Amino acid sequence: MRGVGASMSADNLCPAMSDSHISADVSVIGLGRVGLPLALSFADRGLSVIGIDNDQARLESVRAGAMPFEETGAQELLDRVVANGRLSLSERVVDAASAKHIVITLGTPSFSHIEIDMRDIRSALDDLLGALRPGHALTLRSTVAPGTTDFVAGYLAKHRGFEIGEDVYVAHAPERIAAGRFLEEIDSLPCIVGGVGPRSGEVVAELFGVFGAPIVQTTPVQAELAKIWANILRYTHFALPNLLMMDCERYGANVFEVIDLVNRDYPRGGLAQPGLTAGTCLRKDFAFSEERSNAPGMLLAVSRVNESVPLFLVEGVRRRLGPAHGAPGVGSLSGRKVAVLGLAFKADTDDERDSLAHKLIRLLERELADVVAHDPHVSSPTVSFEEAVQDADIVVVAANHTEFCEPAALATIAQRASGDCLVVDPWNCWGAGQVFAYASELAALGAPSA
Ligand SMILES: NC(=O)c1ccc[n+]([C@@H]2O[C@H](COP(=O)([O-])OP(=O)(O)OC[C@H]3O[C@@H](n4cnc5c(N)ncnc54)[C@H](O)[C@@H]3O)[C@@H](O)[C@H]2O)c1
Repeated sequence: MRGVGASMSADNLCPAMSDSHISADVSVIGLGRVGLPLALSFADRGLSVIGIDNDQARLESVRAGAMPFEETGAQELLDRVVANGRLSLSERVVDAASAKHIVITLGTPSFSHIEIDMRDIRSALDDLLGALRPGHALTLRSTVAPGTTDFVAGYLAKHRGFEIGEDVYVAHAPERIAAGRFLEEIDSLPCIVGGVGPRSGEVVAELFGVFGAPIVQTTPVQAELAKIWANILRYTHFALPNLLMMDCERYGANVFEVIDLVNRDYPRGGLAQPGLTAGTCLRKDFAFSEERSNAPGMLLAVSRVNESVPLFLVEGVRRRLGPAHGAPGVGSLSGRKVAVLGLAFKADTDDERDSLAHKLIRLLERELADVVAHDPHVSSPTVSFEEAVQDADIVVVAANHTEFCEPAALATIAQRASGDCLVVDPWNCWGAGQVFAYASELAALGAPSA
């Protein structure tokens, strides 16, 4: 077999498997933000890899040697993999069975019913069912609700009569990297493996062992819970300062000063900073726990806090505005130019999925504001920074991209925006320590002026 790395061999991977069906070491189904860097990393470690995706444009991009999205270092990695020829591509899920290891990295969104949407995974399983042979190892790398790995094992046992863990192997090995840090973390983050039956954990650990990170064996449901609860911890961690930010507005207090008072030289501090907390993982993974919660609604309340930050910012702006140009009433956004800086869900990524910046824009437009957006990372078309802030009445930092937090960016806003421009910065991007401040105030606080 071509391209098998030194730390694994065809023999020790799947001893019961006949090599006649097998042309690769590992297939990865779903070449998204998790699957593509993973497939490239396997190929870079010497494995022969089949990458599968039903999005033709994505496959074309990879075939042409161009990363379809930003991931630090991934373009150089793709260049190396194109040169080493160890990655082949297909749009057919069934082709995954040409590899001994099949890794599923499909999306697992949540229904609005507070329930995991497993349609992509179910559809891939149905495509694979007839092609699976003894010796195949199926790894769920996607984030899944507790019990899903056992469901997948049960599905294969029910429909094909396999003894899971003896003739076919099934495990959950959750992806725990943060977007933008894949290559930095893949060979250092402990890899959790929850295998079904006697040998699944061991077999799947051999595959992920190529990265050299510690492997932690556990049960499937503990692997599922560990992944989900890491994200629940983060989502809740950021909801607390977001709630505090809203409480501070009510009490006329400064959230950044209160956070500093909580944390300063206090051994039990650690309150995070506020911001727009969302993204495709944090916004939905809590729902996988909420499905069968012992405290129903607790995590929904956490979600509600994070989801209400855009409205809080819009209402905070309205409270500080005088009448609009020619429009009646106090605090109207009608006809005001609002520059939204950043459409991505977090700093320095091009991922706009589930970004609260888009919700913010929708809310501003419902107030009849004239919204313009700038983001140097995302694929959605936006205007230039200068054009966005030119004559703006309000500037909102929706994503704290590094470029926005440079003093020069604030200088440009002070120079180009309207004289009484209100700057909204829940991230404290320029260190001014105010969620709402006038550009002139920021300049007076020592920020660079034009
Ligand atoms: N994005 C992250 O940072 C991150 C981090 C950790 C875990 N996760 C989890 O990993 C999983 C994947 O996330 P992602 O962000 O990579 O998703 P994604 O949407 O970027 O990727 C999914 C890919 O699967 C493809 N696809 C969908 N249906 C298909 C089908 N039937 N056949 C073949 N291909 C199909 C899509 O075209 C897409 O390229 C999710 O469960 C997610 O929660 C994501």
